[in-house]
Amino acid sequence: MDLLIRLISYSKVYWRRLVVAALASAGVGMMEGAFAWLVEPLMKKIFAEKQLVVFTLLPFGIIILFAFRGICRYLNDYYMQTTGQLAIQKIRNDIYEKSMRLSLGFFNEQSTGMLMSRVLNDVGAMQHGVANIITGFFRDGLSAVTLLGVIFYRNWQLAIISFLVIPATVYPAQLIGKKIKRLSKLSQEKMGDVSSVLQETFSGVKVIKAFGLEDREIGKFQQRNLEYYYNIRKSIKYDSLTAPVMETITSFGVAGVIWIGGATVMSGKMTTADFFSFITAMALVYSPVKKFINSYNVLQRALGAAERVFEIIDKVPDVVDPPEPVKVGRVAGTVRFDNVSFSYDEEPVLQNISLTAAKGEIIALVGPSGGGKTTLVSLISRFYDVRSGAIFIDDIDIRQMRITDLLHQIALVDQETILFNDTIANNIRYGNTLATDAEVEAACVAAYAHDFILEMPDGYDTSIGDRGVRLSGGQRQRLCIARAILKDAPILILDEATSALDTESEQMVQRALENLMANRTTFVIAHRLSTIFKADKIVVMENGAIQECGNHGELLANNGLYKRLYDMQFKE
Ligand SMILES: Nc1ncnc2c1ncn2[C@@H]1O[C@H](COP(=O)(O)OP(=O)(O)OP(=O)(O)O)[C@@H](O)[C@H]1O
Ligand SMILES: [Mg+2]
Repeated sequence: MDLLIRLISYSKVYWRRLVVAALASAGVGMMEGAFAWLVEPLMKKIFAEKQLVVFTLLPFGIIILFAFRGICRYLNDYYMQTTGQLAIQKIRNDIYEKSMRLSLGFFNEQSTGMLMSRVLNDVGAMQHGVANIITGFFRDGLSAVTLLGVIFYRNWQLAIISFLVIPATVYPAQLIGKKIKRLSKLSQEKMGDVSSVLQETFSGVKVIKAFGLEDREIGKFQQRNLEYYYNIRKSIKYDSLTAPVMETITSFGVAGVIWIGGATVMSGKMTTADFFSFITAMALVYSPVKKFINSYNVLQRALGAAERVFEIIDKVPDVVDPPEPVKVGRVAGTVRFDNVSFSYDEEPVLQNISLTAAKGEIIALVGPSGGGKTTLVSLISRFYDVRSGAIFIDDIDIRQMRITDLLHQIALVDQETILFNDTIANNIRYGNTLATDAEVEAACVAAYAHDFILEMPDGYDTSIGDRGVRLSGGQRQRLCIARAILKDAPILILDEATSALDTESEQMVQRALENLMANRTTFVIAHRLSTIFKADKIVVMENGAIQECGNHGELLANNGLYKRLYDMQFKE
């Protein structure tokens, strides 16, 4: 019930449309009732009394009645459907907005395909539901009510007899509805599996081809698709069961009416005309009642999907703005880790890290793979919050800042070169959406990307395809560097930012980065030690802890892990 109210409350803001639609449904309902009502005078005045006036006027009346009902039906459909769509659009925006605002931790747990499926398929299932519920409950409900009015007016005793069967239909209807809701939730999950496979295999198609695993993936997809079918088949079974079960039960009512009604007419207590008006109303009431019951099933299906959608909308983000954020402009850029520990789940990944980067310093992080370097710098941007300890920028705990303010201070070039299906210029502008063309170009010149961009067919306006597939690894990396340069932030994080470049362009980009690093606090992560000789401080990390810390000379003298790494890379 709460779920239903919540679902309906999404259409509350469109109450004007709903009022028009409701008036139109009232029109449709009334016309249905009027039609059943008219059967009585039709029978009596024309067939029994043979009145000519009624005979000439009635056909026109019927045409007008149907035309009016048509107009009402159109208005009703149009406004109901569009309201449903508007409400759904709002739900879809909400779920997208919510998932965008959740922390990275959420995305680690959830598969992208599953998320996409919720935004597309589940919301789609709800869409069907919302439009159907509103139409069903309003129009079919109203039609049923007016027709029932006619039925009761014509002969209330007979009406009561015919409706004695209704309580008998409630229980099976509910039972079926419940089953459908559960099955629908399962089907949506299966659809999520299908989407997951799609998303993963399309984006990882290169690996699949390289390893010749097409058949395996096709099999996997077919399997998931089949599982979806098995589920939906069960739900179809219950859906198709609804009408026959209801019809069988109501046939008892119909039989009762004909039996008792026939006897009443024969005994002269009811006119034939009255009886036919009664039967017409009974026949007409069947369709709206059936639709009404059917919309109950559609509703159950929508609720199953709604549960999955609201589950995400209701997620409480774990990385949030503080209630009273400290106002920050552009920071100077001192970054201090104070006894920071962190874990993604149970396993500790960082333990008691204390580290200070003074304004303008270059801090290099080195050490074996999996040591926690990327994790350490991702904490500065609050991709995750520390488990204990604190991180300060200019002596303000970063959790005291508004997240947008914090992110304004940081430019990041990641291990993953993430680009979007857009033009080169727009991809660079992710660094600063307001940048002029000249500024974009200057950033690209500094990142040694300008020349190759000019060689592309449309220069800066060239579209680079999904994830920048039309570029080489080194080119992608240079665009990411240009994006960071354009951001012009006081803190710079370079995580393997030059790893995909050849020695020559690395040296060039290195020079560009050196210019960029001036007056900025920089964290550099690199496996190639040649990129970090000049760092003010080199931090050697292993197993989530700082093993050594000092400048190049000091660490060599120390004769520890750094010296070993150094010797391995520069044997000759
Ligand atoms: N999203 C995540 N969820 C759970 N565990 C993670 C996640 N990301 C990293 N880890 C784990 O945290 C540890 C540190 O990973 P991290 O990426 O920080 O290492 P790294 O030093 O950057 O390694 P590399 O040099 O290979 O980039 C690893 O053991 C890794 O398995
Ligand atoms: Mg890393």
